Amino acid sequence: MSKKIHVDLAERGYDILIGRDVRPGFSITGEKDVRVLIVSDSTVDRLYGDRYAEFLLSKGLEVRRAVVPAGEESKALSYVQKLYDEAMKAGLDRHSIIVALGGGVVGDLAGFVAATFLRGIRFIQVPTTMLAMVDSSVGGKTGINLPQGKNLVGAFYQPVEVAADLATLTTLSSREYASGLAEVVKYGVIWDARLFSLIEDNVRRVLDRDFDFLEGMVARCCEIKAEVVRVDEKETGVRAILNFGHTMAHALEKVLGYGKWLHGEAVAAGMVFAARVSVLEKGFAGDDCDRLENLLKNLGLPVSDADSGIKLSWTDIRDAMSSDKKGKSGIPRFVLAEKLGSVVFGCQIAEEMLEKVFAGKL
Ligand SMILES: NC(=O)c1ccc[n+]([C@@H]2O[C@H](COP(=O)([O-])OP(=O)(O)OC[C@H]3O[C@@H](n4cnc5c(N)ncnc54)[C@H](O)[C@@H]3O)[C@@H](O)[C@H]2O)c1
Repeated sequence: MSKKIHVDLAERGYDILIGRDVRPGFSITGEKDVRVLIVSDSTVDRLYGDRYAEFLLSKGLEVRRAVVPAGEESKALSYVQKLYDEAMKAGLDRHSIIVALGGGVVGDLAGFVAATFLRGIRFIQVPTTMLAMVDSSVGGKTGINLPQGKNLVGAFYQPVEVAADLATLTTLSSREYASGLAEVVKYGVIWDARLFSLIEDNVRRVLDRDFDFLEGMVARCCEIKAEVVRVDEKETGVRAILNFGHTMAHALEKVLGYGKWLHGEAVAAGMVFAARVSVLEKGFAGDDCDRLENLLKNLGLPVSDADSGIKLSWTDIRDAMSSDKKGKSGIPRFVLAEKLGSVVFGCQIAEEMLEKVFAGKL
């Protein structure tokens, strides 16, 4: 069994296939002499590289593999250059395809290479982390980091297909898996209260990585992201709701030092912060705020900076929020919840209130 979601972006539209053992290449039919470069990281290549290369070879494609080290450090210009070299060695032309086999790092990096090599060649996402399946592989944001900050260079560039094989999740560490679940919970808060309740009622199945349950859950997240992206592909408006919890998350990641917390862990704590502010500013129900906190805890996620083992200073957090690239003129903007399943974006909040919520005084 598998589920198919269509991302409706007219001529740039594509399908996402989700299920156990789904394979990429379903959008390639009847073409001859297609060259494919599979880009992966060292961990994913070791686990799945042979399997996917063999599958694509069996479809009659010419396959070459390129591997970057596992980890965020590979989202760098030097690896873009390395991949251009690999693309040249593989003889990629305008009909060729880059397949990103891995998590968000590989997807963002390989997507950027695909967007720019020969002014853009086809690109297939094969996400292998929960975060990549529900978030980064869908929507067309590609990019790399600069020494000055994360995701500062990039392009909006849609894949031609996304093939999410749930079976790959079995080898993902519990910590990475839980980190991706933070984004799943986010969709419940910003869009779909039923999804939120469904996860609450099925925490065990989620933690057990029950494929039957995950298929519906991942598909629903992709459906929501696809709808948001359809309406606002380039984040000029409503796409900002996907940043629920992220204003504080980015600050936490920066102040704690990148790598101390995984992105989803910071998002989890950031969502609880945003929910608390929402109670005061938008009439979000206190009970729902507690439900959010409990759900995140049950999924094994942190809910405040104190869970890092370090109590952070407000001034450091405030300064980090002011330098966030998603703010305007140094003023951080928040996505706040009115009720489960409904949020507003672009909210500016008085600093005294933010400080008190951060200190746990409100
Ligand atoms: N483009 C977007 O819209 C978007 C959205 C959110 C995040 N991102 C980006 O995504 C990146 C984070 O992605 P991520 O959380 O997937 O991290 P990641 O790609 O670094 O993967 C996490 C770790 O898990 C390993 N791994 C991946 N799949 C595995 C598997 N099936 N089994 C065992 N190990 C596996 C990887 O080797 C890596 O060590 C960040 O760079 C972030 O900026 C992009």
